[in-house]
Amino acid sequence: MDLAERANLISPSPTLAIDTKAKQMKAEGQDVCSFGAGEPDFDTPEHIKQAAIEALNNNFTRYTPSSGIPELREAIARKLFRENGLEYKPTQIIVSTGAKQSCANAMLAVCQPGDEVVIPAPYWVSYPEMARLAGAEPVIVQTKQENGWKMTADDFRDVMTPRTKMVVLNSPNNPTGALYTREELAEIVEVCDEEGICILADEMYEKLVYDDAEFVSVAAVSRQAYDLTITVNGFSKAYAMTGWRLGYLAAPENIAKAIDSIQSHLTSNPTSFAQYGALAALNGDQQCVSDMRDEFQVRRDYVYERISNMPNVTAVKPMGAFYILMNIERTALSSTNFSDRLLSKQKVAVVPGIAFGNDKTVRISYATSLDVIKKGLDRIEEFLRTV
Ligand SMILES: Cc1ncc(COP(=O)(O)O)c(C=O)c1O
Repeated sequence: MDLAERANLISPSPTLAIDTKAKQMKAEGQDVCSFGAGEPDFDTPEHIKQAAIEALNNNFTRYTPSSGIPELREAIARKLFRENGLEYKPTQIIVSTGAKQSCANAMLAVCQPGDEVVIPAPYWVSYPEMARLAGAEPVIVQTKQENGWKMTADDFRDVMTPRTKMVVLNSPNNPTGALYTREELAEIVEVCDEEGICILADEMYEKLVYDDAEFVSVAAVSRQAYDLTITVNGFSKAYAMTGWRLGYLAAPENIAKAIDSIQSHLTSNPTSFAQYGALAALNGDQQCVSDMRDEFQVRRDYVYERISNMPNVTAVKPMGAFYILMNIERTALSSTNFSDRLLSKQKVAVVPGIAFGNDKTVRISYATSLDVIKKGLDRIEEFLRTV
């Protein structure tokens, strides 16, 4: 049976291949240090689990409105107002089965064949594929390490065409840890405003920001930004809830309405009782979030310090998320070759940067214990002395 053209355009997640190999080696009893994970290594906080258990015990197990239970949409609207300075009505908020679904929904609602979606690289692996699924064409902008891996307004202008429909801004960024300042965002918003370009603001790592850096929501930059932006966020990274599959977006009313319809036909509601866990996450004590953040910061400091002193590699200090991107250009190895050799020689798993649109880098996730981080970095250092 021939597949649809759409299916042929999509490639499987490249981050999974090395992960599968690392897991296989572990299963064989080998001592592998895995830096591949895209999820916190912490458990979901107790009060969040209890809220979902209670909902389940109360038989809250039926369909809910496809856009989420009203209490949760209200709590998200309050959160966005309180923490991000954004005024959304609950009807502008669509709860989904993860920020991944929210991003895909946003592209499906806004983009169509003939449109271009500008994606700064290094990017989160799914954006280009989502654009293709929507029938649009991803246009990749290579950002520069000397600019902290951030797209400037000039970089953006250079790739813009009359077909540019959307730009993706992911701050804090996966895989670079880059955090855009208010001024940097404002300059990009200005370009979008001139041309009426929609902004997909993926703010998944909002809670993981280090030192005294300020996180700024794109939609909060100006009234124009608010009108152009679809803000995506979720529970996976901030509350260690990756497996729960819960995210959300906030958008201008007409876009939210369209996305509600799309979601109602694709998946219906996110899991009913899980939504009560999300409600407890937002309404409960936020100490658990800052505790996890503090631990990530200790690891970030350690990893950055170590990598800065290793031969043949460089890195930008990540200001958010839990990744560091290591520039391996001086080794003259492709990112896949580097990652394969590192895994077989030193039993350390990293993600080749080609997966993120940059073959001169590899991504290290520090969402693992400091002991594993220390051991893994010792091995990377040894490996680097031999390449
Ligand atoms: C930048 C970014 N956006 C969205 C997601 C998806 O998150 P969720 O688990 O809510 O689908 C991820 C997960 O890795 C991510 O890194």
